Amino acid sequence: MIIVKLGGSIITDKTKYKAFRSKETENIIKELIKIKDNFIIVHGGGSFGHIMARKYNLPGKLNKNSLEGYTVVHNDMVELNIKISNLLLKYGITNIGIPPSSIIYNNKKNYNIFKKYFSVNIMPVSYGDVYLKNENYLGIYSGDNIVYDLSKIFKPEKVIFFSDVDGIYDKNPKKYNDAKLLKTVNTDFKSDNNDVTGGIMGKYMTMKKISNLGIQTYLINGFYPQRLNLIDNNEFIGTVV
Ligand code: ADP
Ligand code: IPE
Repeated sequence: MIIVKLGGSIITDKTKYKAFRSKETENIIKELIKIKDNFIIVHGGGSFGHIMARKYNLPGKLNKNSLEGYTVVHNDMVELNIKISNLLLKYGITNIGIPPSSIIYNNKKNYNIFKKYFSVNIMPVSYGDVYLKNENYLGIYSGDNIVYDLSKIFKPEKVIFFSDVDGIYDKNPKKYNDAKLLKTVNTDFKSDNNDVTGGIMGKYMTMKKISNLGIQTYLINGFYPQRLNLIDNNEFIGTVV
């Protein structure tokens, strides 16, 4: 089994509200269905999540404004999830979208239904989204955290994060032309972050936690999903943690 996170940076244009990258997402799915292993997909929010979350100060204390934002962000995320669900169905993958708000409350999580769905050939597709953290606080649970939770439950052989860069660099490759791609990483790299859920540093921390479970994690550029086939090969382009 492989767990795959489709990062918001690849499935959407993070700078334009609700700009879905249909072709790129479809190309990744096409590569995934070629592999022999079972896989589970989790996706991020990109411009369906972060832009409105920031506007409504989410995550944050529960009040009239944040409550409105809760509904707006969730509905936008459902919209994105349906687009991905329909693409998966196009390639014969029957699936169901599962929002974190229905499996997580107050640090208590119940992922039991995932195994049930998986056993009857319905792929549970969860995603980063708003959730009720407690009676006073509206949280955002990232897709990366869901990937970590699922890794503990399913114990996959590999976890793959698709993003819009070749991997983790020593500094942001979109800002610095001389940034160097790190094939393996420690925390010693620079990142800047515009995300409500932690950006690349958060992703690295999650990858590290998953690798501590004894599972190899990879960051691959989703614009080149064929790189999936080069994992464990010398020519692989990406970052391994
Ligand atoms: P995703 O949306 O795919 O989950 P993020 O947006 O959180 O991923 O992280 C990817 C982005 O992080 C890239 O688009 C890149 O611009 C930015 N970034 C900042 N610092 C770095 C770095 N040191 N290495 C790689 N990417 C970085
Ligand atoms: C964020 O989820 C979801 C919202 C902001 C609602 P992620 O943290 O997994 O999203 P990406 O991959 O960074 O876009």
